[in-house]
Formats: sequence, C-alpha cells, structure tokens
Amino acid sequence: MYLTIEDTIGQTPLVRLQRIPGVANEQRGNLILGKLEGNNPAGSVKDRPAISMIKHAEARGQIKPGDTLIEATSGNTGIALAMAAAMRGYKMVLIMPEHLSIERRQTMRAFGAEIILTPEKGGMEYARDLAEKMRDEGQGVILDQFGNPDNPAAHYQGTGPEIWRDTRGTITHFVSAMGTTGTIMGTGRYLKEQNPSIQIIGAQPEDGSQIPGIRKWPDAYLPAIFERDRVDQILTVSQREAEIMARRMAAEEGIFCGVSAAGALCVALRIAEQVEQATIVFIVCDRGDRYLSTGVFPA
Ligand SMILES: Cc1ncc(COP(=O)(O)O)c(C=O)c1O
Repeated sequence: MYLTIEDTIGQTPLVRLQRIPGVANEQRGNLILGKLEGNNPAGSVKDRPAISMIKHAEARGQIKPGDTLIEATSGNTGIALAMAAAMRGYKMVLIMPEHLSIERRQTMRAFGAEIILTPEKGGMEYARDLAEKMRDEGQGVILDQFGNPDNPAAHYQGTGPEIWRDTRGTITHFVSAMGTTGTIMGTGRYLKEQNPSIQIIGAQPEDGSQIPGIRKWPDAYLPAIFERDRVDQILTVSQREAEIMARRMAAEEGIFCGVSAAGALCVALRIAEQVEQATIVFIVCDRGDRYLSTGVFPA
C-alpha cells in the first residue's frame, strides 16, 4: 500500500528490446534496454523532477501550500507539476506554445492548472520570457526546470541508481533525449561516478525537425543546469526517423512510446552498430497516448 500517489513515482521497469535491434546486434552481444518512464503516475519522466522541485522548495521554506507556481513547459513537466500541485495544494499556472498537443493541455486542466498559450512562432523562448515577466510582476514563483538543481538531482537520486542496480553495474552506454537536460545531467553524473567509462550520449532533433519535449537550444537559451562536459556525444535525429521508430516500437515491441523516446532509440541503434558486448540503456520518456492527436499513429 502507498500512502500517497507521490510514493509511486520512480522504480520504473527496464525492458530489453526483443526484435528491433536485430540479429546483427544479438551476434555482437549487444543488449538494448528501455527504461519505461511513461509508467510514472502522471505518465512521463518529468514526474521525478516535478515532485523533487516542489518538495525541496517547500523544505527550504521558499514556497508553501496555497502559493501560485508559474512554469513555462513544453508539456510533460506541466502535467507532472499540475499533478504535484494538485496533491500538495498549490495553484499552478502553465505557459506553453499554442501548437503543442491538445491531450497535454486537457490533462493539465484535469489536474486543475490554469494554462496560458503563447504564439507558435515565439516557441519555448517566448514562453520562458513571459513566465519571468509574470514572476517579476509578483504573480507567482517559478520553479525553473531549466535552472533548478533539484531537476537533475531527481535523476541523480532515482533514475541513475535504478539503472545501475537493474543492469547489475553492466551498463556501458546511456542515451537520453535532451530537453531541459535534467535527465542526462543527473543520471549521467551518477553513472559516471560508478564507472567513468560509461558513455553518456544525448539525442537532439536535427535542424528543422520538431520533436516535442526536446530541443537543440540556441546558445542564449541553453539550460543553466546543462554542463557540456558531462555528455560524451550529442547525436541528432530527424522527426521523420523518430516518428517511424515510434510506430515500430509499438508494432514490433509492444511498447507504446512518444517520439522523443523513439529518437533516443534511433541514436542507441546507431551506437550499437559500432560496439560489441554493450549494454545500452535509453530513456523512454513518455507514452504514445500523449501524441494521439498529432497524427504520428494513424487511425
Ligand atoms: C517528451 C519528452 N522527451 C524528453 C524530454 C527531455 O527530458 P529532460 O528535460 O530531462 O532533458 C522531455 C522533457 O521535457 C519531454 O517532455
């Protein structure tokens, strides 16, 4: 029995892919494992930092129930924060570009959050600027997933140790799609501390590609929590390649995942072509349900 829904965050399954890696990888002794973060209660990897940022800010006396929280979010953090705010009695204002998927907005509203939509052409940069303006006007507190050390700390304390334990220390490569970079920063740091030879690999959309939740940030908007030297390699993936792989994951593996997760798998497979006896772990950031209106999965 769990005392609160909060206690069900984390301890997500690590699952070996059976078919997509193919015979060549099997012959080279490579294992490709997905960590199913869509199994978290609000449905994504962002449940971990959302609860971590609220809990730690509360513990430091920076916020208290009844306060208003403001966040610019591409979706999953908003859903996770809306859930955490509902549980802990905060008002949540979420700012996001108007073109992001309708399911995300509906889910945030279900958790009681207020949503402010910003122009598509302004992207996340516009949403982040507006959040700061509202904070400066005294309208609420920003937890700031892009600059808050409690974001990567959630992965340093949870995701990293779980992967190390579940691979019995055999992991050789860790692949994560990069948005705020909290996942790759925190998990990567923990894994490197256990074994410095573990390769930490980031996946980003290539120029002109749109993959929800991840970005190739312009230098001025690079997340403050991002430390370039904690990542060994950054590889890019196209939207088309990632969407095809999302469909394959569902049809060939029975794993219904989002597009950024599939992008991370594309990168994991590229790495796998060059190595032997490797254990490659990639993050399955969320579930395919969250993309039903986007046309990625045809009717
Ligand atoms: C769908 C999706 N994939 C990947 C990520 C990247 O995770 P992180 O912000 O930890 O880099 C996010 C983060 O918002 C996301 O929503």
